[in-house]
Amino acid sequence: MDIQIRHATADDEAAVVRLWREAGLVVSYNDPSRDFMFALAGDSSDVLVGIDNAHGVVGAVMVGHDGHRGWLYYVASDPARRGLGIGRRMIAAAEGWLKDRGVRKVQLMVRESNAAVVTFYQHLGYDVTPRVVMAKWIDEA
Ligand SMILES: CC(C)(COP(=O)(O)OP(=O)(O)OC[C@H]1O[C@@H](n2cnc3c(N)ncnc32)[C@H](O)[C@@H]1OP(=O)(O)O)[C@@H](O)C(=O)NCCC(=O)NCCS
Repeated sequence: MDIQIRHATADDEAAVVRLWREAGLVVSYNDPSRDFMFALAGDSSDVLVGIDNAHGVVGAVMVGHDGHRGWLYYVASDPARRGLGIGRRMIAAAEGWLKDRGVRKVQLMVRESNAAVVTFYQHLGYDVTPRVVMAKWIDEA
């Protein structure tokens, strides 16, 4: 499927959030609009969108780095257009974004409830790397 990939702008927020919802990526403790705008506001983070002329935003990925590793979040393709290469293109674009900034390794987290997607990432050359991820909310809001 022929798509153009570009940086998201604030005008893309509604379409991207809709896609993330349709892809089942939005959970109660995350505000996807806030997450989208926060990623666009940072120097070391971004949202890339895949655009199909007829259907608008059909792919999205949040990408960023913390000064060491690159991270991917909110990887999604249009549920009506799966298996057409959108996901692969979005991942490649995000990897290119990181490489352009000197990042050597990219990482991502998969929720245990979404284990089926692990094979998609393995298909694209990602390995499961045994780590314990620890987390703490530091903003009660
Ligand atoms: C994961 C997701 C982005 C894949 O998008 P997609 O557009 O269907 O992926 P592609 O068509 O680019 O597939 C790329 C390759 O992976 C393969 N693939 C796709 N989904 C796969 C899966 N679940 N398991 C194994 N392989 C898979 C495809 O066959 C394709 O292989 P090929 O390029 O050798 O022909 C999409 O299914 C999605 O949005 N899922 C819901 C959101 C989600 O779980 N995101 C990840 C959060 S960690």
